Amino acid sequence: MGNAVRRIGVLTSGGDAPGMNAAVRAVVRTCLKMGIECVGIRRGYNGLINGDFRPMDFDSVSGMLRRGGTMLYSARSEEFMTEAGQQKAVNTCKLLGLDGIVGLGGDGTYRGLQALSRHGIAVVGVPCTIDNDIACTSYTIGFDTACNTALECIDKLRDTMQSHERCSVVEVMGRHAGFVGLDVGMAGGATVVLLPEEQLDFNEDVLEPIRQARLSGITHYMVIVAEGVEGGAYEVARRITEETAVDTRVTILGHVQRGGAPTTKDRVVATYMGHEAVRLLAEGQTNRIVAMRGDEYVDYDIEEALNMTKGVNQKLYGVMRMLAGQ
Ligand code: F6P
Repeated sequence: MGNAVRRIGVLTSGGDAPGMNAAVRAVVRTCLKMGIECVGIRRGYNGLINGDFRPMDFDSVSGMLRRGGTMLYSARSEEFMTEAGQQKAVNTCKLLGLDGIVGLGGDGTYRGLQALSRHGIAVVGVPCTIDNDIACTSYTIGFDTACNTALECIDKLRDTMQSHERCSVVEVMGRHAGFVGLDVGMAGGATVVLLPEEQLDFNEDVLEPIRQARLSGITHYMVIVAEGVEGGAYEVARRITEETAVDTRVTILGHVQRGGAPTTKDRVVATYMGHEAVRLLAEGQTNRIVAMRGDEYVDYDIEEALNMTKGVNQKLYGVMRMLAGQ
């Protein structure tokens, strides 16, 4: 592609994440600085299928750095999974003269980018999800904000649990991964943290820590359950009440974790990654995902990235369990 890049599209797809707007802003403004036109595709891949777009100028992203959600709207597109849907999307790219697409989202978004790439469109992905479950990157945009939001709620719950000497069972998001659960459990000083990655022995992992806490004089308990854990928070709470008779309350934090102004970290990472995505396309690269390896920004081939795996940090998990209590 080289210098031939004249116009690119940017879209947000899948679950939204705080920092998506900051990344869109960086994509748009980097394009403009490089003399590339930028088109915002609305409602994820559905927007490409339906020709739902808006031209983006410098001012269109003004004030977006600090805004949660995504100004481009997001969706999970069933139609784009079909060959016919993909063909419509490709036709829109051709009609609008898009030389490349920057896709902000998770693994589903990258599979969509791969499909576009098979039809000859240059693509780069940027990792945005509160779950932090994208294997090729040590960090995904939105994770820090989501953890801070969850932690604020957990701290508040602790106040009332302490007053009433209750047990709080809090379910946090993360889909099939325990990254949010581990970090907020550790930062919130939880008595118990249950993650989908770990085999659960109810007596050892839930009841015994509560007993230990009680024996050391504590009369309220914080149990964090990552949403991927079998049975979920209600089942965990039911069994705690049944086995210990402690007054227990369930809170499902849910979508509140996806909203709010992005933290400093999310704004910084989103800005740099958005910029990098445009740089890669402008250099003629395609099929890449911008990622972080430790503190370093790198990029991977999408195929290679989708075949990677990552797990929760076992050292962190071990220390968290060792220090569990209140
Ligand atoms: O992937 C982000 C996420 O918020 C997950 O943590 C959660 O399982 C899922 O999306 C919820 O999806 P929806 O917004 O479609 O209910």
